[in-house]
Amino acid sequence: MRTTLSVIKADIGSVGGHIKPSAQVLKAVRDHIETQGKKKIIDHFISHTGDDIAILMTHTGGVGNEGIHKMAWDAFVTGTNVAKSQGLYGAGQDLLKDAFSGNVKGMGPAVAEMEIEERPNEPFLFFAADKTEPGAYNLPLFLGFADPMYCPGLMLSPSMAAGFKFVIMDVNNTEGDRIIELNSPEDSYDIAALLRDNGRFVVESIWSRHTGDQAASVSTSRLRNIAGKYTGKDDPVHLVRTQAQFPATGEILSPYSIGHYVAGTMRGSHNGPMMPCKQNTTISFFDGPAVVTCAAFCVHNGKLTEPADAFDHPFWDWVRGNVSQKAQEIRRQGFSGPAMLPYDDLEYGGIVDKMKKLDKKFKIREGEKTPVSV
Ligand code: 13P
Ligand code: 13P
Ligand code: MG
Ligand code: MG
Repeated sequence: MRTTLSVIKADIGSVGGHIKPSAQVLKAVRDHIETQGKKKIIDHFISHTGDDIAILMTHTGGVGNEGIHKMAWDAFVTGTNVAKSQGLYGAGQDLLKDAFSGNVKGMGPAVAEMEIEERPNEPFLFFAADKTEPGAYNLPLFLGFADPMYCPGLMLSPSMAAGFKFVIMDVNNTEGDRIIELNSPEDSYDIAALLRDNGRFVVESIWSRHTGDQAASVSTSRLRNIAGKYTGKDDPVHLVRTQAQFPATGEILSPYSIGHYVAGTMRGSHNGPMMPCKQNTTISFFDGPAVVTCAAFCVHNGKLTEPADAFDHPFWDWVRGNVSQKAQEIRRQGFSGPAMLPYDDLEYGGIVDKMKKLDKKFKIREGEKTPVSV
């Protein structure tokens, strides 16, 4: 059976700052999907990661399906009305356009979708991150799909020996989707050269070179590029199929033990480590650390199993301790150097105005000659 997996997520308001959506807002979103989705979707799963609500749906309508996108958009509009009525912070934060036009892409919500031919056994993972940008998944995806140090299946499994195709997007190009297709293993240095720059080059999808099947889909929206100013961080979602011709679930999860430094946390303007957390985790220290959650499922004829919470295990408690230490190490140096994002990536316009004002106050000291080189 051909099944479409669609996850659409948005921040439509949160309790106590950028911590979590309220129970009433979550209920409004859930009720909308349950009533409106009866004929449109086969199954759904609604969760939150920090202040972002994700609607995971299965259906047969294909990717970019107007009816599915409109239903999710309307669920977020309905939830926003509740958020406003409760005085939640940032009510409707990620709904950047007034009217729906065909597809939520470019309107604020993040989208990751795949239309798949269901295998008899179809495990997949749904990741959601808060307080960070889409490029935060670059390193774990590279290590999980292209590095035998993290993915021994690349050496051990004949159905993975041919490697994977990476489709990478230049998210700075706002005129249209500017993409490049590169194959691992032979292009892996080129892939690394691009994925190094999380703010600009983002893995959009990954494909098995053995079967041609899609393995992963990542949301690529940069809210700053849509709104023209900082309105909140992108907080990306992504979907990965696992096992058989794809990496095993544990191979995909293993790079998250690094707690690598990503852009985000406080005011979207700092670098901090990404912490793998349990489902429905909230946000705390310094509007962070950036968190990532992972719900593992199997799907059959479009029906989802219950989720397995992939980061709910004693091993990840130890990782979370290490990540907290990494968070505190970089935080102790406040605004200095790599603790904050470089000037061009800073999310707040205020600093640009400040620098312009200060620029006018600079002067060349009188009476001093420019040194002449001899
Ligand atoms: P099982 O032998 O438990 O199926 O595990 C195989 C595997 O994929 C481990 O990563
Ligand atoms: P969100 O994008 O999760 O709303 O966070 C915004 C922010 O600036 C936190 O400090
Ligand atoms: Mg928010
Ligand atoms: Mg958020």
